[in-house]
Amino acid sequence: MSGRVKKRWENQAITGINRRKAYTSFYEDSAKKISLNGIWDFLYLEAPEFSPEDFMLPETDTTTWDQIKVPAVWQMNGYDNMHYTDVLYLFPVNPPFVPDKNPCGIYKTKVMLDNEWLKEDTILRLKGVGSAVDVWVNGTYVGYGKISHIPNEFDISANVIEGQNDITLRVYKWSDGTYLEDQDMWWMSGICRDVELVNEPRKGILDAAVTAGLCKDGSTGTLEAEIKVKEGIDTGKFVLYDGETIMLSQELSFDNGRAKVSYRLPGVEPWTAETPKLYRAVVAAGSHTVSVMTGFRTIRMENDNFTVNGKVILLNGVNHHDYNPATGRVVSREQLEEDVILMKKHNINAVRCSHYPAEDYFYDLCDQYGLYVIDEADLECHGFEWTGNYKWITDNPEWETAYVDRGVRMVQRNRNHPSIIMWSLGNESEFGCNFVKMAEAIRALDSTRLIHYEGDFEAEVTDVYSTMYTRLKRLQEIAESTEKKNKPHVMCEYGHAMGNGPGGLLEYQELYRRYKRLQGGFIWEWYDHGIYTEDEEGHRYYRYGGCYGDFPNNGNFCIDGLLMPDRTPSPALCQYKQVIAPVEIKLVVQSERELVLKNWYDFRNLSGLQIKWNISYDDKVLEEGVLDGISAAPGEALAVEVPYSAFVPQANTEYFLNVSACEKEEVSYAAAGHEVSFAQFRLSQHQKLLRERPRQRPLLVEETAVSCRISNECITAEFSKVYGQLTCLVIDGKECITEGPKLTVYRATIDNDMYKKDDWMNKYFIQLPQEQTESFSLEEREQEVKVQINKYFGCLNQSWGFYLTYEYRIFGEGELSFSLTGKNFQNGKEEPVFLPRIGVQLQTAKELQRVKWYGRGFGENYPDSKEACPVGIYETTVDGMSTNYVFPQENGHREEVTWFSLGNETESLLFTAEQGVGINIHNYTEESLEKAKYPWEIEEAEDVIVHVDYLHSGLGSNSCGEEQLEPYRVKRQDFTLAFSVKKVAAGQEIEAAKVKYLK
Ligand code: GAL
Ligand code: MG
Repeated sequence: MSGRVKKRWENQAITGINRRKAYTSFYEDSAKKISLNGIWDFLYLEAPEFSPEDFMLPETDTTTWDQIKVPAVWQMNGYDNMHYTDVLYLFPVNPPFVPDKNPCGIYKTKVMLDNEWLKEDTILRLKGVGSAVDVWVNGTYVGYGKISHIPNEFDISANVIEGQNDITLRVYKWSDGTYLEDQDMWWMSGICRDVELVNEPRKGILDAAVTAGLCKDGSTGTLEAEIKVKEGIDTGKFVLYDGETIMLSQELSFDNGRAKVSYRLPGVEPWTAETPKLYRAVVAAGSHTVSVMTGFRTIRMENDNFTVNGKVILLNGVNHHDYNPATGRVVSREQLEEDVILMKKHNINAVRCSHYPAEDYFYDLCDQYGLYVIDEADLECHGFEWTGNYKWITDNPEWETAYVDRGVRMVQRNRNHPSIIMWSLGNESEFGCNFVKMAEAIRALDSTRLIHYEGDFEAEVTDVYSTMYTRLKRLQEIAESTEKKNKPHVMCEYGHAMGNGPGGLLEYQELYRRYKRLQGGFIWEWYDHGIYTEDEEGHRYYRYGGCYGDFPNNGNFCIDGLLMPDRTPSPALCQYKQVIAPVEIKLVVQSERELVLKNWYDFRNLSGLQIKWNISYDDKVLEEGVLDGISAAPGEALAVEVPYSAFVPQANTEYFLNVSACEKEEVSYAAAGHEVSFAQFRLSQHQKLLRERPRQRPLLVEETAVSCRISNECITAEFSKVYGQLTCLVIDGKECITEGPKLTVYRATIDNDMYKKDDWMNKYFIQLPQEQTESFSLEEREQEVKVQINKYFGCLNQSWGFYLTYEYRIFGEGELSFSLTGKNFQNGKEEPVFLPRIGVQLQTAKELQRVKWYGRGFGENYPDSKEACPVGIYETTVDGMSTNYVFPQENGHREEVTWFSLGNETESLLFTAEQGVGINIHNYTEESLEKAKYPWEIEEAEDVIVHVDYLHSGLGSNSCGEEQLEPYRVKRQDFTLAFSVKKVAAGQEIEAAKVKYLK
């Protein structure tokens, strides 16, 4: 038992002092407001006890104080220190006590109020201050508030005066509330959301809770409203509008400050995330008018599923935090809107407010644009898990008030939003009596939504059974069982988007779509939490945990979003869009014309879309058209024929049918023509034409004991007989390959390899291979010279490896053809479960910076993440091949490449493969990529580093979740990898790649 006397901010029983009861956020409010955002006087202290005497008085001299912007977290403005931990509290776990050294900020501002203003009430609204705050107005103590992400409001009518008013806030970094705010994010404090004064009418509205539902007939709406007003108001008015049209109008008479509205309205348009139809309820009472946007929709449990308007829906969601790389937890309205638009553009239909309620405006956007929301209470006490006493406060009734308060305030504040379909009790806080009470309290307030909480592992009080990062096998088991009372399952987090990845999303989607019990999931997470940095040397980059000397920290575990800090959609976001696309386009293979369009929307008919198609070859379109007038109800499949004309294929040319489902008309988040989904099909028409090789010019072979040179005026190939390697290739007098191919099984590890990295690099040493030359032989044929090198490949102290046969054919016309055959070998027992890749690395001349390829693109793609990347001919620079991850790692791979070229303005070195290969082309080596902690640390190589892969492993999501699945793991195996190299004039790559020889 602690002998410490509790400070105010060390008392979990005090959730607030004189704080106003939470009430619904209004869409519009006639009350005047004064924004107090802006520059405030600021005094930062190591502990509240150091506060100067009389700091709360209006006459306090603040000339020596600093100034700070409101809203802004103080750690990003030069105070305190930046610190990132995922789980750990930064102090001993001794609830409710917090460190003596408790950074605190005293904020002061002045505001002029006139007589007119004083006729009404004055409410001080702090929309988000953390972790706790004391308030003084004109020197008088007003009250105390807690919770970082729900407004704290104080009625300061009795404290304000005509003229200048002084407002003083003292914000505490640590409080007992901190024990409940241990979310995985940067530790940030201060005023992180808007501050305003509301001139609330003395005869005004206190609350207007509006609940709209939809009857089973699908068109009759129900509308219930409960309106609370201040004293002295007897009558009012409630009007419901559809646009400008009045749907209903009712006089209100208040009994004891309350009035209710209850209606059934035939012929309403339902709200769904796909059809976000909103109506506006306007409430007027006294001299106050507020409006609320509402939507008719009903969430229900039906036959072991949850439904929206009677329909079992699938959530294709994402977890959203408040984050901005320049301002931390302070997020502008513009950014929130951009986020919502980007989500909608990427087919995302749901968002979980992880792990605290969002700014009011965010829900308005979700209502308007259409996103299903899981709203989550500002509650996580993850650090307890690591004490071995996870339930410590969760199952302690002394904390009941604190828990329940967080749930209840969320519901009271956000209940008007049709977009919210579930209340989540919090995150990662185990389970116990306080959650039972919170669930009861929430249900008593709002029975129209469902309860979610992943930490209720047995789904005792929740309506849905929620898990996170569940592996596919277990997910399927859940899907096929009736465990947890057969409650519908949602995956509140999966697909950990850390660094390069996640891969393997398709398999999840497939299960969600196959099993009715599975109602989808939410990718972890939306945005990378990197901190924008410009250092003295001019480097611009993003920092993560540990970059501030913060210890302990979780490094780049906060760089785990689909959106990069510079707001570039990551390749994974594009992949997710395609995986969850509501239109699945398949081709009936035999016909090669008949498409089957499956409508995965829950409510929309496909009639709003049009199907654009074309037949393409190389970089050209042969024919194109539009299929209009399609129609398929949700869940239905539609067969349509693509009326392309018969054509005679050109030799050695592939033809594709490309199909794209696009919005016919403009939608709120995108212009007409916006692509929802696409598919590409390789057509079977193929005309193979093999030519005789042209007569070759004679080649001269010069050999020494250690080297061999094969040359004529067009080509020179030099080999080291000691190392059994091509050391240089010169074509037309210019060195183009500066170092020949060598087998490699290694790639710079990605975050999703974090649990394999140690084995790979410190046990199997896959980054330290060696080749041993067994034989070097040379054959001078009539038309060519053939070099065959037999070698053994192995890694440091390993018993497994490959017997290799390198074969080079040098043709006098200036072409080199390469093949590598590997026979795998193991004479021991130890070896990695799988390899990152099997391929070769070679180096080309640095001046060849223009890249073109025929394969999947444009963006990077991997075997388990390539749905967003159709086959085509793409062009960029070597640097443009890279994806610039905040934490450097393997990137920029392209799959199914049949040719690629590296060139300059005038000429290109063309690599042509018989079978599709994987490529990586970079201005840096794997080694320097692996070593670098920031992009600017990646050392530029002297040559261009080219990888040609026989096979490349997938990405998986194993930084938190599923490993690379079996089909996407490169196993030790026999292989043959072959390609040829020649030089062509820039622009001639396509034609040149089609030239195929007989042998
Ligand atoms: C989950 C947690 C998230 C985040 C994620 C890892 O366990 O709920 O907040 O920490 O793991 O990035
Ligand atoms: Mg956590």
